[in-house]
Amino acid sequence: MTGTILITGANGSLAIPAVQYLLSKYPDHTAVLTVRNAEDTDTNTKRLRETIADFPKAQTSIRQLDLAKLTAVHDFADTVSREISEKKLPPLAGIVCNAFYWNLTRDPEFNSEGVETTIQVNHISHVALVLRLLGSFGPEGGRVLLFTSDGHYPGRNGLEKYPPGIPDDIDSMLKASPDADKLGRGFNRYANSKLAILMWGYALNRYLEKNEGLNKITAIVIDPGNMTDSRALRTNTPLFVRLVQKFALQPLRPLLRLRDPSLRTTDEAAVDVIDVAMNKAYPGERGYLNQLKRESSSPDSLDEDEQQKVWVKSAEWAKISKENTALAENI
Ligand SMILES: NC(=O)c1ccc[n+]([C@@H]2O[C@H](COP(=O)([O-])OP(=O)(O)OC[C@H]3O[C@@H](n4cnc5c(N)ncnc54)[C@H](OP(=O)(O)O)[C@@H]3O)[C@@H](O)[C@H]2O)c1
Repeated sequence: MTGTILITGANGSLAIPAVQYLLSKYPDHTAVLTVRNAEDTDTNTKRLRETIADFPKAQTSIRQLDLAKLTAVHDFADTVSREISEKKLPPLAGIVCNAFYWNLTRDPEFNSEGVETTIQVNHISHVALVLRLLGSFGPEGGRVLLFTSDGHYPGRNGLEKYPPGIPDDIDSMLKASPDADKLGRGFNRYANSKLAILMWGYALNRYLEKNEGLNKITAIVIDPGNMTDSRALRTNTPLFVRLVQKFALQPLRPLLRLRDPSLRTTDEAAVDVIDVAMNKAYPGERGYLNQLKRESSSPDSLDEDEQQKVWVKSAEWAKISKENTALAENI
């Protein structure tokens, strides 16, 4: 099955080796690669361009998309669906919702609509992208790949100070107040966004499965593992996190992973992510994966009533209506 694979945050630490692996192992596919800044002055975008330059026959295009701006996501979805209907792009075979944001060092930030950036980039914009583009998959379906983290599971991540959870006042997830504990609160916003993604993914699968036209699209929510070489650990993080990466996590990874199997490299995660995105790993299956293993996600994430609450609110936050998604009957 050939088709278009859409990857967000395509100049990220995991994404660059993932693109490299995609183009070498699945050369018949078309890669639409979104980045926040498409200029070559962005060193990571430059690296992405250098990576795809090694594959002169590959069908690739780099598009600028700032996921902090919901209107930009809707405009981008319009463009992609139009290009697919005009046969300028093959139908979608996969959407890889890889991009993410966190801010563990400053006061919370908000987009022009007043929505806190972590939840906007990580969850809401990906909800908009996926729900707008479900109708642009081919008849053979394909895969939606969402990204969670061990941060969704209370007690599993060393940076957790406040347990993750979906608040009763769910709209409060879009807000945040300055707090002296920037690391603890910032990580909590990240973890909550990753919990919301996971719970939304379970609901998405329930609705896709029941939909005659869309039931060949399967969603997997993957925790790609804790990637000790990721630039995420150097982006908007306090000095001690950067020092731990440089002097412990990176040099000692082979030893540390004997105790903590979540630790690995972006190259290792990239292979799993692309094999899952291409429906080669777990073909036609749905649900949560810890790296490539089937495991149970956190007890809270499995609560179907809460998943439904997240589903309904996410559509509202992402400005999805019956008119702009192929999954209209569930909106
Ligand atoms: N790193 C880990 O150990 C780990 C652990 C568990 C889960 N994960 C998940 O794995 C995925 C990949 O992580 P990674 O380590 O590769 O992260 P990364 O290297 O920090 O890459 C993040 C990507 O997201 C992009 N991004 C940030 N804000 C954006 C925005 N407003 N609009 C568009 N793109 C934006 C970044 O682009 P810019 O550089 O332009 O901002 C970058 O390309 C994420 O979903 C993450 O949550 C990672």
